[in-house]
Amino acid sequence: MKVLHNRTMSSDKIIVHIDMDAFFAAIEQRNDPKLLGKPVVVGADPKGGRGRGVVSTASYEARKFGINSAMPISVAYKRCPQAVFLLPSMDEYVKVSEDIYEILYGFSPDIEMVSIDEAFLDISNSLHLFGSSLDTAKLIKAKIKEETSLTASVGIGPNKMTAKIASDLNKPDGLVEVKKEDLLDFLWPLSIDKIWGLGPKSKQALITFGIKTIADLAKKDPQELFDIFGKNGIYFWKLANGIDEREVHTDERAKSISNEFTFEEDTAREEKIKTTLLFLCEKVSQRLRTEGLKARTITLKIRLQDFSTSMRSVTLCRATNFVDTIYKEIKNIYTSFDKRKKKVRLLGVKVSNFIDGDFPDTIFCSEADRKLENIHKAVDRIKEKFGDTSIGRGLDRLS
Ligand code: TTP
Ligand code: MG
Repeated sequence: MKVLHNRTMSSDKIIVHIDMDAFFAAIEQRNDPKLLGKPVVVGADPKGGRGRGVVSTASYEARKFGINSAMPISVAYKRCPQAVFLLPSMDEYVKVSEDIYEILYGFSPDIEMVSIDEAFLDISNSLHLFGSSLDTAKLIKAKIKEETSLTASVGIGPNKMTAKIASDLNKPDGLVEVKKEDLLDFLWPLSIDKIWGLGPKSKQALITFGIKTIADLAKKDPQELFDIFGKNGIYFWKLANGIDEREVHTDERAKSISNEFTFEEDTAREEKIKTTLLFLCEKVSQRLRTEGLKARTITLKIRLQDFSTSMRSVTLCRATNFVDTIYKEIKNIYTSFDKRKKKVRLLGVKVSNFIDGDFPDTIFCSEADRKLENIHKAVDRIKEKFGDTSIGRGLDRLS
């Protein structure tokens, strides 16, 4: 891992930008280890160099031959005929993207997924949980690696543009932090190409005015820029001076809520496994209620001692945030899962497919349900006041 780290000082906002490395190609290499270390091109079939499609992405090995995204596949073929050319497996890439979203959600709920493999994370409010901004970014990278076997490049900065530039600077597997006080030293030597939000036409126009670096732009008279480019001129000038007011636009609703647990030692003890599952169910059920949500889909994640990882889901006809219901479903899934006599390494419980928790759902909602709902709310209040361990449920009551 490459780390580039400057001086420390607190800043008002800390934004992290995560961009997976050679995303489609890296997934193909992970899924077929024979491809590791080889030039891999994902895109339309080259058809012996006569294919008419374009390259989606290329592994870093293929990039050494000058192959890049959006290049005609025929050109890529000419540059490196020995490369392995693969068609995209979009379903697989989307699944990995969803897993990455979940990993990031564990670090901060303020996530904006800007593309299939790229996200901004506002960690200003969750930083204290993981140490410094650099510690948080290292943990994010490590968790992504552990969970997906893929590498991500991460940039940290006091605003979105800087974090994005920083994540791109040391790819692949990069980690670059730009502190607020180093912002202009960092930005000014860079080409105006790096400004996020500057289109090719604006860039060309700036170049005709002799503006090549971000410093050239920052030092221009803003009035002059306004006269030439209108409001955009002021916007570009602000960005060049390190002022980027764009917020991280969090998804309206998290797509899923999950919790998982890795045993210190792999275990086959049913009692221990079920207690852990119950604990995980309580966690997700509590979070659902805190966020005012109910979920229809309940998923068990199970990793065995040989690291094989499986997800098994059930979708209920009626959404729930009751721990009793979630645990009952999870336990059923677990019981019918064939562990092939292997020990369990990790367990996870995920709920998704949400509806608003206040949604009446009255067609089915019985008096008994309403009572249960009130009991759950009371338990949440006790936990809020006295902590997680103050009240719990017995396994026997739920089995
Ligand atoms: P990028 O993040 O731009 O590229 P990348 O992840 O392959 O490589 P890196 O970030 O290390 O530079 O895009 C993410 C995925 O989106 C990429 O793997 C394939 C797809 N994509 C296309 O299909 N067409 C394109 O033109 C681009 C740029 C990306
Ligand atoms: Mg990428």
